[in-house]
Amino acid sequence: MKSIFIVGHVILVVILHAQINQAQELGRFSAETEYNYDESSGRGPSQWGYLNPNWTLCNKGKMQSPVDLTNVRVEIVPDWEQVYAQHQPSFTTLVNRGHDIALEWIGDAGSIEINGMEYQLRQYHWHVPSEHTVYGVRYELERHAVHVNEETNNIAVLSVLYRIGRKDPFLKQLTRYLKAMVELNINETSPGMIDPNDFARDDDSFYRYTGSLTTPPCSEGVTWTIQNKIRTVSGRQLDLLLDAVHGKENARPLQPINRRRIYLYIPCFWADWTSIFSSKKMDWSIIFTPLEYLQRKLFSAAG
Ligand SMILES: *[C@@H]1O[C@H](CO)[C@@H](O)[C@H](O)[C@H]1NC(C)=O
Ligand SMILES: *[C@@H]1O[C@H](CO)[C@@H](O)[C@H](O)[C@H]1NC(C)=O
Repeated sequence: MKSIFIVGHVILVVILHAQINQAQELGRFSAETEYNYDESSGRGPSQWGYLNPNWTLCNKGKMQSPVDLTNVRVEIVPDWEQVYAQHQPSFTTLVNRGHDIALEWIGDAGSIEINGMEYQLRQYHWHVPSEHTVYGVRYELERHAVHVNEETNNIAVLSVLYRIGRKDPFLKQLTRYLKAMVELNINETSPGMIDPNDFARDDDSFYRYTGSLTTPPCSEGVTWTIQNKIRTVSGRQLDLLLDAVHGKENARPLQPINRRRIYLYIPCFWADWTSIFSSKKMDWSIIFTPLEYLQRKLFSAAG
């Protein structure tokens, strides 16, 4: 009697196991392509980590992006050359990837160097609204310039935040191609040669921290550099980006900072008087950062 029970149990386990395997196989195809930003669909950001075994970091990772850029530690650098950029114009393809619009460079569009490591430019893509926030403020748009080290596959992203205002000159080059995408309902066009050289150089400060990709597979160890100066984009430009992805916003919610540090690198213009504080034990960054904003405001008002 007992042995029959055991045999039956073994058979049941085998059948169940086969069914689970089959379910995994079937699930694979849809899971690979389908993730979105809509929690009510069951495939929203809180579920990404369960949709594909390769995406577990999206839920389990401890160094995820985006984060709120606040409580930063201030470090002083000579200037923006801390990120040494050497970009050059190259041919591009504008791709509607469903969840976002990406401008992919074909061939060598140059690279950036951070702490002695070189990263090749691969693509720009846009998130509406911004994914990173600054002192809790979410901006209207964020652009990610994704760079990859070809040997190690390490990733570095340069990010720019935008609020509504004047047109963004970079996006302006892509207007007709974005329009064509929407009107002709196509998901790939060729804007031709585009110069990626669109980063501030001299007087700009920037945030730096280590995080992840903000979309599956949410890979970690990504070096983030976020320009501190907020740029502008026109309402029309923003609408065009949104129309192309059928009006669906694509910002991942904020992730826990955990034990990470965020640095605000500032140009040496401020170095003299910040060195007064740097010898003290107290962390002045909380006081210093809003002051930096104020100074910026005063200077731009005067200039
Ligand atoms: C996970 O990634 C590996 C390596 O890229 C790939 O071969 C495999 O098919 C992926 N698994 C799923 C379920 O997508
Ligand atoms: C482009 O659109 C076609 C038709 O809608 C679709 O089958 C294809 O997967 C899309 N390609 C990309 C890269 O999204």
